[in-house]
Amino acid sequence: MCGIVAYVGPRDAQPILLDALSRLEYRGYDSAGLAILNGKGVEVRKKSGRIQELASACQQKPVQGQIGISHTRWATHGGATDINAHPHLDASGRLALVHNGVVENYLELRARLVGHGHKFVSETDTEVLAHLVGDAFAASKTKGEEKLVEAVRSAMKQVQGTLGIAVIHSDLPGLVVGARRGSPLVIGIGHGENFLASDTQALAPYTNRVVILKDQEVVALKAERYDIASPLGIRSDIQIEEIENGVATSDKGPYPHYMLKEIYEQTSSIQNAFRGRLNPHEATAKLGGLNLSSHELRKIERISILGCGTALHAGMVGKYLIETLAKIPVETHYASEFRYGDSPTSPNTLFFAVSQSGETADTLGALREAQRRGFPCLGICNHVSSTIARESNGGVYMHSGPEIGVAATKSFTSQVMIFTLLGLLLGRLRSLSASHGQEILQAIESLPQKITQVLDRSDETKKVAQKYAEAKSMLFLGRLANFPIALEGALKMKEVTYIHAEGYPSAELKHGVIALIDKETPTVLIAPRDGVYDKNLGSLQEIKARGGRVIAVAHETDAKIRDLADAVLPVPETHPLLQPLLNVIPLQLLSYHSAVALGRDVDKPRNLAKSVTVE
Ligand code: F6R
Repeated sequence: MCGIVAYVGPRDAQPILLDALSRLEYRGYDSAGLAILNGKGVEVRKKSGRIQELASACQQKPVQGQIGISHTRWATHGGATDINAHPHLDASGRLALVHNGVVENYLELRARLVGHGHKFVSETDTEVLAHLVGDAFAASKTKGEEKLVEAVRSAMKQVQGTLGIAVIHSDLPGLVVGARRGSPLVIGIGHGENFLASDTQALAPYTNRVVILKDQEVVALKAERYDIASPLGIRSDIQIEEIENGVATSDKGPYPHYMLKEIYEQTSSIQNAFRGRLNPHEATAKLGGLNLSSHELRKIERISILGCGTALHAGMVGKYLIETLAKIPVETHYASEFRYGDSPTSPNTLFFAVSQSGETADTLGALREAQRRGFPCLGICNHVSSTIARESNGGVYMHSGPEIGVAATKSFTSQVMIFTLLGLLLGRLRSLSASHGQEILQAIESLPQKITQVLDRSDETKKVAQKYAEAKSMLFLGRLANFPIALEGALKMKEVTYIHAEGYPSAELKHGVIALIDKETPTVLIAPRDGVYDKNLGSLQEIKARGGRVIAVAHETDAKIRDLADAVLPVPETHPLLQPLLNVIPLQLLSYHSAVALGRDVDKPRNLAKSVTVE
């Protein structure tokens, strides 16, 4: 949420900042800006709208200089306007600052500063931060570069909330100061030049050597060196990490949108999630990163899964998988509720924090809360160098490759696959028979080919989408492990089409939801031939009896559903435990094609950001 890039070196800063920023646009895309030291002072360009707007403004009136900071915004305080876009200046106009995070006490700080004669031009919390740093800088007796570092530290002491910041001052033309509390920040190390960014993806074309800033650290970044210090002193044990460059993956290839590309990538991303992790000899799975012995895994009495949005829905399917295969009770928590709630925890509970980005603030907060209570918490993440991956006590990587479309698709199926492997592993350490384990393994191996079959029918889904895209509201129903699939289908639909959609367990229909049924409100019913098939057919009849229209996700060979439903999204049959992994794909396609039919901005839906690093 919000992306920051800073550059210091011998090259022109503007093209580097714009290019690197475009790689962070998924973090927020309502406005963007940059500030460059041009030899005389700080020169700022900022624009509401996409980074392209900023690029056009910079093309018309380029800014010359070799040191600068930049930002792509996801608004928290103040609308998406030119004025509220970052960077923000201090009272002197000589200091510019970009910020990712939230200053929680900004109203109080702003009132105090106004009392001292400060004037603010924006509605943001960030401008307050810029003024605080500027004031501390002006008041400081320290000389040289340490003066800006000290000023940043002084402002951090006054500010409550989260921040990742980058600051420049025209009195110090070779220096960028960065600081981190809560929001991620990495240093990119070049040859005779250095970078600062919210995540490594921004730096891919420039360097693969990075240092991840730790919480509370401040960095003084120059072209030839960087010094990192926390309130406890200088960091001397700096470890430079080499990251995998993801430049190629930011290409859409033949697809018009990343979302579609990523839906299609599920044939391989699911394979990446299970490759090397199947053990046919023991009819089980092997997950090396758990950092727990078989003995420790056997002692687990409960599992708690933490996540937000799509990741939580994957966890809800995970609950079903683990409870069925391993007979361990599992609870799922919205990470945001867990971190602030009083929900009791039992001994011998193992926690999982599920997060594609590994940076979601609520999931990270919940992970820390679980660890504070003395529980081990494992991560299920995609981003290898992410904060959740680092702070968890072990975990499983998804290996999905970068997910750029804001709506999560391939990460969901990879997360569910990892829960399948976990269920299998934990089950085989308990009472799950080898023959049942083998059935699961075989079903896993045949899944990529079945996903291909679903994708091959994308055009059928497109026709259904075009027919129903005018709906104002939709219902998604499913039972047991397909209930979270209904939730996920509804979430995808809301996100990318802006059609109101609700997911419910099918049986809940008659407890109130049925009042919504009419011919304008289509229902998507997930009804594979499983143990609750007849019950689902009952729901279908109830909807039809009230004039509702039904789109059924059903087995391709199911003639009965074909007769009853208004439209069918066919899926091949697999092991019932893995069926949700196939059922979700037509729902992803349904929302994608509906969004295209409605002319929505599929990869960057309004108001959203890919990585939610604020609470
Ligand atoms: C939905 C979506 C969000 C994320 C949620 C958690 O399409 O993308 O609901 O799933 O913000 O994000 P991560 O997995 O990065 O923690």
